[in-house]
Amino acid sequence: MPAKVVVIGSLNMDLVTRASRLPRAGETLIGQTFSTVPGGKGANQAVASARLGASVAMVGCIGTDAYGSQLRDALLVEGIDCQAVSTVGGSSGVALIVVDDSSQNAIVIVAGSNGELTPASLRTCDAVLQAADVIICQLEVPMETVGYALKRGRELGKTVILNPAPASGPLPADWYASIDYLIPNESEASALSGVAVDSLDSAKVAATALIQAGAGKVIITLGAQGALFADGKSFEHLVAPKVKAVDTTAAGDTFVGGFAAALAAGQSEAEAIRFGQVAAALSVTRAGAQPSIPTLHDVQGFVPA
Ligand code: RIB
Repeated sequence: MPAKVVVIGSLNMDLVTRASRLPRAGETLIGQTFSTVPGGKGANQAVASARLGASVAMVGCIGTDAYGSQLRDALLVEGIDCQAVSTVGGSSGVALIVVDDSSQNAIVIVAGSNGELTPASLRTCDAVLQAADVIICQLEVPMETVGYALKRGRELGKTVILNPAPASGPLPADWYASIDYLIPNESEASALSGVAVDSLDSAKVAATALIQAGAGKVIITLGAQGALFADGKSFEHLVAPKVKAVDTTAAGDTFVGGFAAALAAGQSEAEAIRFGQVAAALSVTRAGAQPSIPTLHDVQGFVPA
């Protein structure tokens, strides 16, 4: 039986437009395509872990609208345990996404039912958390729920990963002691640490500050520049595989899910980071969030350029 990854977080329906460039304030642009794609950072990370070899359970909330059942079905088809995905009243989470010709995106999310995931609802599915080897959280559900999940994961002796996305400011100071692996991107690392992360050197300064705050280990993802791993004793810069990007949506989620799956399977941290990097690189060569996430077979067959 593969090790169990439990993801506590968001499910969103992504409403995706492709346009030559991102619109400016007050501007109406003519887009090229529109699609409706299952996403949400939590659900994307669950799909990534499942496709990349882990046994996965998802904890989250969906609405009573048509998107809700589509989001749950998208996880069930991957073999993800959805007994802790609750249907609550109202609309499911949505993300409005524009992807431009240079494969960059801009995203606005509306939490909808993701906002209904409470500490009380996590207490009702404690057995799911108890069965985990690795617990992953992000920041698209209420902060008090994330705080509860991190601390409960620590109490239960699980490996706890926080992907602090999206981040707009520092994390509550009392969260850090519960986090084994903190995985921000550059802008999130800047928001958390107060250090402007725009280079490998500034990423090292930010990672040091986050470890001093109490995080166990920090991995700052640097897009095409790879990732910086810090454990408080040394740094390692892991270079990203080179690929032709089509759409970067869910690349970070694919990295986190792949890293968690590999770690749960017993790989070393460096191996798990490289595995996550290959998975993320493959994901940017394809459009959409969940449709872009590769399988274990894809990753094993990857040949660097
Ligand atoms: O990380 C990508 C995800 O961010 C999208 O799928 C969207 O739903 C937003 O949550």
